[in-house]
Amino acid sequence: MDPSFAHNSVNLDVLRRRAHNYRWAVHPPDVIPLTAADPDFPACPEVAEAIRRHLSEGYFPYGSPGGDDQFKLAVASWYSRRKNSPITENLVLPVNSAAYGLFVCARMICTHPGDEVLIPDPVDFLFRKSVEHAGGVAIPCKVNPETAEFDFESLSQKVNARTRAIFICNPNNPLGRAIGKAELNRIILFAEKHGLWLVSDEIWADIDFDKKCRSVLDSGLVPYAKKLVVSGLSKNFALAGLRIGYIIASDEQTWQSLLAFSLHQTTAFGIPLICQIAGTAALNEGEYWLEAFVRHLDKMRDKTSAFIDSCPFLEPRMTECTYLAFPKLRLHEANSTKTVEKILELSKVALVPGGKEWFESQSEGHIRICFSTSEAILEEAFSRIKAIEHLLMPD
Ligand SMILES: Cc1ncc(COP(=O)(O)O)c(C=O)c1O
Repeated sequence: MDPSFAHNSVNLDVLRRRAHNYRWAVHPPDVIPLTAADPDFPACPEVAEAIRRHLSEGYFPYGSPGGDDQFKLAVASWYSRRKNSPITENLVLPVNSAAYGLFVCARMICTHPGDEVLIPDPVDFLFRKSVEHAGGVAIPCKVNPETAEFDFESLSQKVNARTRAIFICNPNNPLGRAIGKAELNRIILFAEKHGLWLVSDEIWADIDFDKKCRSVLDSGLVPYAKKLVVSGLSKNFALAGLRIGYIIASDEQTWQSLLAFSLHQTTAFGIPLICQIAGTAALNEGEYWLEAFVRHLDKMRDKTSAFIDSCPFLEPRMTECTYLAFPKLRLHEANSTKTVEKILELSKVALVPGGKEWFESQSEGHIRICFSTSEAILEEAFSRIKAIEHLLMPD
């Protein structure tokens, strides 16, 4: 086992102080949180080293509103060498988190009250939130839970004169599925036909066990001028607390427009330089760490899938991408929230429920399990749930 992902590298003392967002710091010490998608492992040592070097110079002036050149180059190189997407650094806009990146795109796109954006169902709640906070209306469109593919007939019925964009999540959180090449081309052609912006959230794209995931910018796909990519380093490099995100525009003019809507030039918003220094180190020097992380996650994925298979109250389901499992409850009248509350009360394991509030309507009747932890923690959590599973079944 790679020592970076062994149980003794999970420092619960630190996590209990620092890991918020439904995780260790917000639960009593006897609870295991397999909740928000945030790894239990420290980031690659090159990140801390780069931050130390930056700190040692002792200067912290305003940074460039358009982002740090080295970070932009590192993102462009990441997309060119790993994703068959030869982009140039001038099209990268560093932003404070992928969450903010989604919001900036939505702000640029939804210029009139009532502008509509098509979003997948299920998908992470950030999609709806970013559109609504930008003044738009999110229109959920069902995707096939096995393939993450849209039903194009019903998608076409949802397009009208107010529709401005289609947002996709590739790979999809919570489904753990990547969108295939043919489907991506269909989505691009659909966006082109209706003159829509196509915003692709690719924050999960590096956690791809079968190497199936493609960027919407892949040069083998249909070209289209209104593609935007949103991504960040929270999931692949365990840097959620540094809020490192970016948007990739398709041309210079769109980049300028995104910059204007980001409000970075007012100095009220923006990504700190030290976070971009950390991100540059991760992208340029941390690829070996990411590969070892994915190897560890692959083993945890097998464990999680075996656990799900053994549970009478869950339908079998294998994750293909992400470190999230999203099984369906087998219980009659399955209510995700009540089931998750009961599991927490009886076993002291915290999970995320399905349901409209979290992942849109189609996710009701599911639960989400995050497995980016050590083998020992996962085994303990699963054995606690196994011990009470009979109490979850109807009489
Ligand atoms: C699909 C998706 N997009 C964006 C985010 C948020 O990323 P960030 O931490 O960069 O805001 C998440 C986090 O769970 C996510 O699952």
